[in-house]
Amino acid sequence: MLTIPPLPTYTHKDMAAAALPKQQHVVVYDKSSTTDGHGIRFRTDYPVPTTPGRKQVLVRVHAAGLNPVDFKMPSVPVLGWMRRGKPIGYDFSGEVIRMGRGLAQQEEATGSGSIGLGDAVYGRCNGSVAEYVVVDVSSLARKPGRLSHEQAAALPTAGLSGLQALREGGMQKGARVLVIGASGGCGHLGVQMAKAMGAARVVGICSAANAKLARDCGADRVIAYDDPLNSSSSSSSSNSNNDVDVGVGGGDSVEESNNSAIAEALAEESEPFDLIYDTVASADACDHSYEAEVRPMLRNGCTYVMLNGGASDWRRRLTRAAIGYNAERKHTHLVIAATRAEDLKKMATMADEGTLNPIIQQVIDTENVSEAFAFLKSRRVKGKLVVRTVRCPRSDV
Ligand SMILES: NC(=O)c1ccc[n+]([C@@H]2O[C@H](COP(=O)([O-])OP(=O)(O)OC[C@H]3O[C@@H](n4cnc5c(N)ncnc54)[C@H](OP(=O)(O)O)[C@@H]3O)[C@@H](O)[C@H]2O)c1
Repeated sequence: MLTIPPLPTYTHKDMAAAALPKQQHVVVYDKSSTTDGHGIRFRTDYPVPTTPGRKQVLVRVHAAGLNPVDFKMPSVPVLGWMRRGKPIGYDFSGEVIRMGRGLAQQEEATGSGSIGLGDAVYGRCNGSVAEYVVVDVSSLARKPGRLSHEQAAALPTAGLSGLQALREGGMQKGARVLVIGASGGCGHLGVQMAKAMGAARVVGICSAANAKLARDCGADRVIAYDDPLNSSSSSSSSNSNNDVDVGVGGGDSVEESNNSAIAEALAEESEPFDLIYDTVASADACDHSYEAEVRPMLRNGCTYVMLNGGASDWRRRLTRAAIGYNAERKHTHLVIAATRAEDLKKMATMADEGTLNPIIQQVIDTENVSEAFAFLKSRRVKGKLVVRTVRCPRSDV
């Protein structure tokens, strides 16, 4: 008779005592890399981080989420220089395998709640496209149990941006919200969160091809920027739930968008918006700004929140951050997502309740991140791209 040996069980003590490998697989910023045109390089010999500090834990990363900031980082002054040769990425999901000394006493002070060895956690750190990362406990929370590591890794940056943008934009129950870029990483989660936070109506702008995705996230109406005339003429029931005002997708470039037709389509809304969440405008010429067309649809005194903007908006925002003086344009706020354990916990609760469901277009292996970068740069991602950082079977388990 075949006897199946019992599976080994690992206690937290075993986990803490287990030897770590000396080297790990990561993707680093490498300007001189000739292997791809993205300034990144896959390495199999990057040192595994040392023991975590007092307010830190060592996490074995299972998955890492990608964001546009990852490919923009090399051109960010100072920060880009500081990250040279270091692993890319911010978002991670994984398990705690080492605790910093004296952490138990600090748990409450850091707001992370009780996190222990073996716990599944998710959050943000510098260099998440790695197998092991050291993370401040103030930058993580327990992984939502309902989500896989891949789904949880898709949440931090895009989710925190959405949550904080809606909050800072004065989101209230019953609000009417416009989400520009409703199918991207930040946009699709913004639509879901606005609904979860009690929005009475959410209208999304994205391409015709992704209208269904935005509607599935909860958008009551979708206006296709690449077919706005069609959307405008077909929106006879703009106040009913789940209108999808799109036709057959036309082009996919900004140049082909018809802004006055978007304004026309929006004018069919029975009331102005209480909040506009713009995830598309940026300093890059390829990222279109809808502000001129949509701002007239914003209720007097309400806020236009954006995640990116032109040079002058960034100057104003950074002045505000540096000296506290609000130099931003009136009723306009450029949100800079902050890593807060309490917000990560709030998102985990939303995910466990089923109101937050990150959509992942593709899960990529660490060695193929440059392909993901090319896709990310195209600005055509539906939801999120996630890197599977865990190796199966792991050589070190
Ligand atoms: N300030 C912060 O803290 C912060 C945090 C996170 C992100 N950001 C910034 O916010 C922006 C969005 O980030 P993300 O992660 O959501 O990016 P993303 O996933 O790359 O967003 C791409 C989405 O934008 C949509 N899009 C592209 N062109 C559009 C157009 N002309 N009109 C309407 N939608 C358009 C695309 O939808 P279609 O394919 O349907 O066209 C695509 O789904 C980026 O600039 C990023 O750097 C800032």
